[in-house]
This record gives sequence, C-alpha cells and structure tokens, in this order.
Amino acid sequence: MKQKEARVASIAVLVSGGGTNLQALIDAQKRGELHSGRIRLVISNTKDAYALERARVAGIESAMVLKKELGSTEAFEGKIRSLLDEYHIDLIVLAGFMSILSADFTAAYPKRIINIHPSLIPSFCGKGYYGIHVHEAAMARGVRITGATVHYVNEIPDGGEIIMQKAVAVRHNDTPETLQKRVMRMAEWKILPAAVEKVSSRLVAEGTASENHQ
Ligand code: GAR
Repeated sequence: MKQKEARVASIAVLVSGGGTNLQALIDAQKRGELHSGRIRLVISNTKDAYALERARVAGIESAMVLKKELGSTEAFEGKIRSLLDEYHIDLIVLAGFMSILSADFTAAYPKRIINIHPSLIPSFCGKGYYGIHVHEAAMARGVRITGATVHYVNEIPDGGEIIMQKAVAVRHNDTPETLQKRVMRMAEWKILPAAVEKVSSRLVAEGTASENHQ
C-alpha cells in the first residue's frame, strides 16, 4: 500500500552558544512530543557554539554564518535567508541567538519566527537584556517571580505577540547563575518545545508547511 503523505513544518534553529534549548527541542522530537515539525537545519552565528556539536550528534545539518566574515548586516542576513530558502524552512526558532534581526528580515517571515527569552516579558526584555544579564537585572530589582517567555519575533526586540510563558520563583539564596539554571530547567526547556509544536501544528493546519513523506 502506498505510504500516507504527511505534512510537517520544516524548522531551522538559530543559535549562538551552549544550545541547551536546541537540545530540549531535539529531545522533544525524539520523544514524539514535537511531531508537527522537524528540525532540518541549525545555524550558528558564532564559531565555537557547543550547539553545533549537539546538532552533529543528533544528525542534523548545520551551518555557520559569521557577520565578521561577511562584513555587513545585509550580507549576514542574506546568507541566512538563502540557507532558509535552500532548506525550504517554514519556521525559524531563535534559541539563544544573540543577534538582533533587522526589520527587513523579520517582515519577510511574519509569525514564522519565534524566540525564547529568559524572563516574563514585558519585564527585563529588549535591547541589552540577554543571557545572564536578564537574571542579574531581575535579582538587582528584587523580583520574587521571574520565568521565561516564548514569543513571535517582529521588528521590536522582544516585542512580538506572546505564545507561552511559565513563572519560576526566585529563592532568597539565588545567584544570577542558580536562577538562570532553574529558569532553563523549569521553564525554558518545557515551554520552547511546547510552543514549537503549537506553531508547527498551526502551520500544518493552514497548509503552509512543506510536504514531506513519512
Ligand atoms: C537561554 O537562557 C535563552 O533564553 C537566552 O540565552 C540562553 C541560551 O542558552 N536567550 C536570550 O537571552 C535572548 N534574548 P542555550 O544556548 O543553552 O539555549
């Protein structure tokens, strides 16, 4: 009997560092929790991102796109866009991607780029708030509740529509580092795969996802 054809969203994950959120997506895909989309490509904008090793181990194709080598934002984003075209990418996931994409870029993929941010937006977000600095700022302000947010990406840094959030309590003996780890474990690694599945299934339902044979 002819095998049934299924549509799944083709996903590219953009990374800059350790890639624990990429790993959470790979693991969710393995467990079948992420089934409406498939990670086809990992793009790093840094040379020694451990995320590239995670992609290699998982058998996912990867590419390095370095702004320094390309010389301009236009060339950098142009190279990323040509890779996204080449791999017929439907959904772009920013998972610890530490470069702000231009309005031209974000306008080309409306509601097709999502980002994980390590705070409850609209707190501690926007330009300058990334990685450990977010947790330093949250602790300096003395908030008792923080968390993580997955949102669509538009021309405003961390300003797009919110898809999912999860709160995490700050403990009295926390340091920015212990808080960062707990926010990742209790919030980021849970809501990112769930949000990617949610958006992928929307793209499939809308009939905009690439066709794949299973
Ligand atoms: C994560 O905490 C992610 O939320 C944050 O960087 C870390 C990357 O870790 N992203 C931002 O701050 C974006 N503004 P990872 O490489 O292990 O996934």
